[in-house]
Formats: sequence, C-alpha cells, structure tokens
Amino acid sequence: MLYLSILLGNFLIILTVNSDPRLHTPMYFLLANLSFIDVCVASFATPKMIADLLVEHKTISFEACLTQIFCVHLFAGGEMVMLVSMAYDRYVAICKPLHYTTIMSRRVCIVLVIIPWFVGFIHTTSQLAFTVDLPFCGPNQVDSFFCDLPLVTKLACTDTYVVSLLIVADSGFLSLSSFLLLVVSYTVILLTVRKRSSASMAKARSTLTAHITVVTLFFGPCIFIYVWPFSSYSVDKVLAVFYTVFTPILNPVIYTLRNKEMKVAMSKLRSQILKPGQVSTLIRNVLPLET
Ligand SMILES: *[C@@H]1O[C@H](CO)[C@@H](O)[C@H](O)[C@H]1NC(C)=O
Repeated sequence: MLYLSILLGNFLIILTVNSDPRLHTPMYFLLANLSFIDVCVASFATPKMIADLLVEHKTISFEACLTQIFCVHLFAGGEMVMLVSMAYDRYVAICKPLHYTTIMSRRVCIVLVIIPWFVGFIHTTSQLAFTVDLPFCGPNQVDSFFCDLPLVTKLACTDTYVVSLLIVADSGFLSLSSFLLLVVSYTVILLTVRKRSSASMAKARSTLTAHITVVTLFFGPCIFIYVWPFSSYSVDKVLAVFYTVFTPILNPVIYTLRNKEMKVAMSKLRSQILKPGQVSTLIRNVLPLET
C-alpha cells in the first residue's frame, strides 16, 4: 500500500504540474522532476522486495544484482543533486528576485534537471568500476533487501579493503558535498528572508519550510545513524528501507499538503477529469511532456 501511494502521489504531482500552465515555472518543474526520481528510487527494488516477502527462497541473479547497485547509486545520487538544484532555484528566487526570470531561463532550468542525472551517472559508473572485476567465487548471500555495495564487495574472495575505502570515499564525497551546498544555500536564503520581512516573503517562507523539511528528512537519518554510537546492528537494512520506501513518499506529502497552489491545481485537475469533454484536452496537454 505504501508503494502504491508512492506511485500515486508522485505521478499526481507530475500530472498536476504538467497540466496546469500556472505551474509551468522552474520551481514546479524541478519538483515534478524530483517526483520522477522518487518513482525511480521506489521502483528499482521495492517490487522485488515485496515479492520476496511472499516466497521462501529469495534469489537474485548476478546481473540483476549489479543492476540494482547501478540503479541505487544513479537514483540516490541524482536525488541528492536534484535537491541542490531546487535549492539553487530558491536562492535565485529569494536573493536575486529581480533577475529571476532572466537567470532561470528555460535553458538553465533544463541544465538544472540534467546535471543531477549526469552526476548520478558518473557516480554510479565509478562505483561499479570498482566492483565489476572483483572475483566472486564463494559466499553468495546478501543480508539486505537489495544489492548494495559494501554488502556485495564483502562477498568477493579477495581483500576488498582498498575497494571498500574507495566506495565509501566516493559516496561520502557526493553526499557530503551536496549536504554542504544545501546547508550553505539555505543559510544564505534564510538570512536574506530574515532581513526582509515584507508580506511577499510569507509565501517564500512556507515554500522554504517545505524544502528544508525534505532536506532534513533526507540527510538527517543518514547523519544520525552514522554518528549515533550504538547503531552498528542492521543499519544497512534500516537505511535501505528508509531511502527506498519512506523518502519517496515524503515529497508528495510535504509539497502537496502544505502548498496552496498545488492544492488548487489538483482540485482543478480533478474537476477537469470528471468532465468527460475535457479529458482529451488534458491528455493532449500532458502526453507530449511525458514522453
Ligand atoms: C523536468 O523539467 C523539465 C525542464 O524544465 C520539464 O520540461 C519536464 O516536464 C520536467 N519533467 C517532469 C517529469 O515533469
């Protein structure tokens, strides 16, 4: 049920943003793209995990296992950088409001969408490059819900100390630099918001709260789990479920329950869908963007 609500919630965001011309702004396009990554994050392992709950012998082929590793680093890396893109958009909107439309042109917006996928791809390819040549000959049990790197490299019949170090450094570098960029940009933004206390800042503030909540919920558990001294047991499994099942549901919840524009657009979408004559218009509006 949680998985179905992830799909439903995120597709609803994508549909709403693409079908309402008033939401055709960089902020909402980035939000729709974040929702798309969320669907990917939730879908590369969760269906298999659910199916595995029903069978006694839970097996996966080596190729599928490598594919899962590829996907988790592509999508999770992409999601982190997408949060940075969204922070940059908010930074321009709040700290350089008069130049917003010139800076955030259609081209810049597309670049902000492509960079996360590009960085995610580089990150996951470099991770796999460390792994794919390892000799796997003996143990073949992964103690988690899907294949991820420290667990799989542990199965290799060779000393994987250096490889593990490289993997930790690679993931650590990406998450730490995204996190620092996010902290710096939201600090600058919050300082700017505090200086100006006009009414127009009230809306900016509520959007900001949503963004900062998502960022905290994304990075918070990770930091907490690694810093907390007693948490060495099954941390991998907790993190695996948290990041593939709970974070993808956060965005629909946080962005739609708190955001008036989204709510208005969604009720408009609902009345549009309920009027049969307008379904074709809706489909014509939405499909070209989806393909
Ligand atoms: C992602 O952003 C691009 C560029 O702004 C936009 O055209 C596209 O519709 C967005 N993708 C989704 C799934 O909404």
